[in-house]
Order: sequence, then structure tokens, then C-alpha cells
Amino acid sequence: MDTLEYQTGFGNACSTEALPGALPTGRNSPQICPYGLYAEQLSGTAFTVPRAENRRSWLYRIRPAALQKAFDPFDGAPAWTSDFAGHTPVSPNRLRWNPLPLPSKPADFIEGMQTWAGNGHPADLAGVGIHLYAANRSMQGRYFYNADGEMLIVPQLGRLRLATELGLIDVEPCEIAVIPRGLRFCVALTDGAARGYVLENFGAPLRLPELGPIGSNGLANARDFQIPVAWYEDRDGDFELIAKFTGGFWRTRLGHSPLDVVAWHGTNTPYKYDLRRFNAMGSISYDHPDPCIFTVLTSPSGMPGAANVDFAIFPPRILAMEHTFRPPWFHRNIASEFMGLIQGVYDAKADGFSPGGASLHNCMSPHGPDAGTFEKASRADTSQAHYIRDTMAFMFETQRVIRPTSAAMSSAALQNDYDAVWSGIKKYFDPSRP
Ligand SMILES: [Fe+2]
Repeated sequence: MDTLEYQTGFGNACSTEALPGALPTGRNSPQICPYGLYAEQLSGTAFTVPRAENRRSWLYRIRPAALQKAFDPFDGAPAWTSDFAGHTPVSPNRLRWNPLPLPSKPADFIEGMQTWAGNGHPADLAGVGIHLYAANRSMQGRYFYNADGEMLIVPQLGRLRLATELGLIDVEPCEIAVIPRGLRFCVALTDGAARGYVLENFGAPLRLPELGPIGSNGLANARDFQIPVAWYEDRDGDFELIAKFTGGFWRTRLGHSPLDVVAWHGTNTPYKYDLRRFNAMGSISYDHPDPCIFTVLTSPSGMPGAANVDFAIFPPRILAMEHTFRPPWFHRNIASEFMGLIQGVYDAKADGFSPGGASLHNCMSPHGPDAGTFEKASRADTSQAHYIRDTMAFMFETQRVIRPTSAAMSSAALQNDYDAVWSGIKKYFDPSRP
């Protein structure tokens, strides 16, 4: 695989051209295009949102995206849903799943997407879909766009090459990629098989969290985000374009590749980020902060401080705080938490949470370290630093209750004895022994 070139930064006004002079410059109108190209704007936020949050890009392309025929319903993504309304209560039970097997039949990234949980609805521009993908072939002659939300892709097994309208992105386990709402792309499997997680964000675009008293450095640094350079294919043929819109799937045919953007500039871009570059913050005295200290990206809601969804990670790090129970504490939160594991072992669980697996702890469902982890951490010598290596867990945390799908609840991967991880917790209370 060739090594790709990237631009760097987060939310930068990038400009890039695959042919010299393809970007209109100077006093020329952005509509007067060199090389016989068409100009087209792709907006990712309302025109009038504050400048710092505004996302839009200008695309200079061989044919405008408008050159398409009518869509018909498409039934090739049978396990991908956005129906989380439901008419039944959500179980408060803590849930955990084993990793999904790789597909036994041919399945590309779209066909191999299985919705595991979610909330809200794309038509309301609020909520999330949480999916697991397992694929064994590249998308062939097929392009896709998602009008329902941006897609945060978290590979767990196998590398992906994302060919997008704005350029190529290679992504591997421990990296993430984000595809903006509406951007056309296709997914090729570099290693022949791939598995991972997708967060479909129906709400405001993901952004870096504010840093407050942390200051101007730390957590995910803007300069570590990678944005593709312009790349295009001038290909005629018979291609499928699949659209996801209001939870449904639609298909039309194109006589050309939609990845025909020769140059572009703007702020509405796909990007990738290497989670191993996350600058983890934590206590250097005693106790530890809330897990929001590990937020990589956040999609704000209309309520100050309450996210439509936060993407947080639990990366390798050093625990140095003294006189402290160092693993995550027992808790019941108003937020709902869906977790996955990319590699290694998660430090709050002794076993049973495997790379590629998942867990769901909904609003007010009590959880925290399992019995084995509690015993071990309670006896740990906290005068010594503890190095957590070779791990990468993550969490999609939302302000709305997360509804698991019927597919997730009936899956053979569902562990029916998850509660048992806490059943060995002992009573130590002794009123005579302060
Ligand atoms: Fe939690």
C-alpha cells in the first residue's frame, strides 16, 4: 500500500489541488473554474452557526453531484437500522457481548454493518446509531453517502482504505476516521477482512472538547489530526450510489465515479486521528478525575455541558496517584455508556471483555470494577506507579438512554452471565473496626 500524504490540523481551512491551478484564486469568482470543472458547495453546519463551528467546503469536480437519476429503495444493508424509538421500556440490565465472528458469506462494509444500539433519530438531527461492522470484501463498483449523520469509524481488526470525494485515508486499528455527513466514499479492505465499530452521529458534528483549566495543550492535539489531500478518479462505467436517508437505504446508478473532485478548499472534511497520540491527563496527587478527562471528540447538544455524544478513550497511561483506589470507581451515571475494546485488556475488568466485544451500561445502571479487580486494586501498593500498557478501550457516552437493537439482544454474542462479574463482591463492613 502506498503511503498517503495528509494535511494536518483540526477544523483548519484547508485547500488542496490534484492538478496545479485547479483551485480558483485571486479575484476570480469561486464559480469560474479552471480545467472545465464544476464548483459545488458541501455544507456540514447551518450557514449561520458561529464561525468557529462553521463547516463547509468548496469542491471543484468533473461533474456536479446533481448529475444523478432517481433513487429506488435498497435492501442490501439489512442489519443497519435507525429505528430506536421503540414502544417498550429499555431493560436496565448491564449488557456485554463477545466479539462478532467474521462473516461467512461475502459482505462489504455496507452489507456487513450491524446496528447494535442507538437513540434519537436522524430526522431530528439528534442521537446516535452504534454499529459493529464485520466485512470480508471491498466495496466493488459501489459508493455510499450518509445523509443521516457523520460516521466515526473505529477499526478493531484489519486496515481500511477510505476513498472519499476529498481524498484517500488509510486507517488501522488504534486509529479512527471521521466521514462527514453526505460525503461520498467507498471502503476497501487492505487486509482482506475487517471488523470494528461505527458511531453514526445524527447531531452536531464532532469537535475537539474545550480544555478549560487544562490550558492550551493536551488531550487530542489539533495538529495530530490528518486530512486528505485532493485525489480524484476520472472513471466512466456503471456504478452504484447507495444513500442512507432518514434511516432508509436508497440506490441509484451513476455512469461515472462520484470521486471526481480535482481540488477543494474548506473546513468540512474527513479526517483521521491516531489514538496513540492522545495526551492523557490524570491525577498526580490522589484520586482521579471523571472519565470526561479522556474525551477525544464531542458532539454538543443544545444543553450546555451535556453532549449528544462524547467519544472517550482509555489509552495506555501511568497511574501515579497515592492512597487511591486506582481503577474506575463504582458509579451510577445519568449518561449512558457503550464501550468497546480495540486491543489488550481494559483496566476495570479482569476478563470477559475481549477486543472486538462491547458493553452497555445505561442511565443509572450501577457498574464499575469487577470483584477481582476490586480485590487486587484495594491491596495494591500505591507508592509505586502502575503502568497500563498495551490497551485501547473506548466509550460512546450519550445524554440519552441507549436502546440495544433486537439483533443485539438475540445475538449469540450476548453474555448471559455478565452480572456474575460483581456477584463475588464481599461484605467487609465491621462497625467495631474503624
Ligand atoms: Fe461507566
